[in-house]
Amino acid sequence: MRNPTSSSSLSSFVASSKSQKAERAPVPVVPLSEFGREMQAGLARSPRSISPKFFYDAAGSQLFDRICELPEYYPTRTELRILGECAGEIAEQVGPNAEIVEFGAGSLTKVRLLLDALETPKRYLPIDISGEHLEAAAERLKADYPALVVQPIAADYTMPLVLPAPMAGSGRRVGFFPGSTIGNFEPDEALAFLQLAARMLRGGGLLIGVDLVKAPERLHAAYNDAQGVTAEFNLNLLRRANTELDADFDLDGFAHAAFYNAPRQRIEMHLVSRKAQSVSLNGERFGFEEGETIHTEYSHKFTVDGLRALAVRAGFRPGAVWTDPERLFSVHWLAA
Ligand code: AVI
Repeated sequence: MRNPTSSSSLSSFVASSKSQKAERAPVPVVPLSEFGREMQAGLARSPRSISPKFFYDAAGSQLFDRICELPEYYPTRTELRILGECAGEIAEQVGPNAEIVEFGAGSLTKVRLLLDALETPKRYLPIDISGEHLEAAAERLKADYPALVVQPIAADYTMPLVLPAPMAGSGRRVGFFPGSTIGNFEPDEALAFLQLAARMLRGGGLLIGVDLVKAPERLHAAYNDAQGVTAEFNLNLLRRANTELDADFDLDGFAHAAFYNAPRQRIEMHLVSRKAQSVSLNGERFGFEEGETIHTEYSHKFTVDGLRALAVRAGFRPGAVWTDPERLFSVHWLAA
């Protein structure tokens, strides 16, 4: 995922020419949120792009939960199967009284498999940018694990973050980063995130789920599902801009596009303009040619060796790796 870009500050009114003034009153411009600043900067650059981290408002998080259930989207169920089948071996690596830090925690479903297998886990610190979704999920988890201290943290986990001090009597601090979210980073960002995690988790480790390189048809199907949920998820970014940023994207005027770039080992996702059109965002207009795209996501795929080599560069000592029989997905223990 791209890092937030800083953008110039805005004046309180759109500068308008004399002739425009004669036609209409100045349009008031509100100070933009981080999403607004990035969307504006992303539409102004060429080629156009926006970070996938903005997919996850409440509606986007729910759509992602639906993606995870799709027949074509194998990563979630395959990772859950690996976590379930290898839970005992994973628990041995983690040890007793652990503090689990989950990066980009979402709906807190996968961690349950881990918590069920661990010996007296002490505390769980889920970090997620979608605060509302996180709070609701944390409440449900607390009810099911009364002995566990659950402290949700609404934050961007790609930014340096000070975690609460370890609790008295706690064991290892273990990061949990399932779902192959590492694949959504640019390669340099993936390295930077792993370096940050290695520092944060020193003395403990990171349990990370990583999608593997495989036949392009299988990958294509996973990001172009028959029910169109992935398309809805992609287009929700424009709906979100309309709601939050006073934009006027015509959702029927853009199409979902996802394809596998084999040399780069990644799925690339775009929103393609179906026609020549112009869009207004917070008082600024952006023209689109027919076929012009906004790049919205990379989903990199890895080989087992490739991920281990990256982990070494970030300061980890790679340990056990668990995969499914078809070698679709992998879960890695990286000692920090
Ligand atoms: C969250 N992330 C790992 C998903 C992926 O597969 O890259 C996001 C996603 N995008 C489209 N479908 C799923």
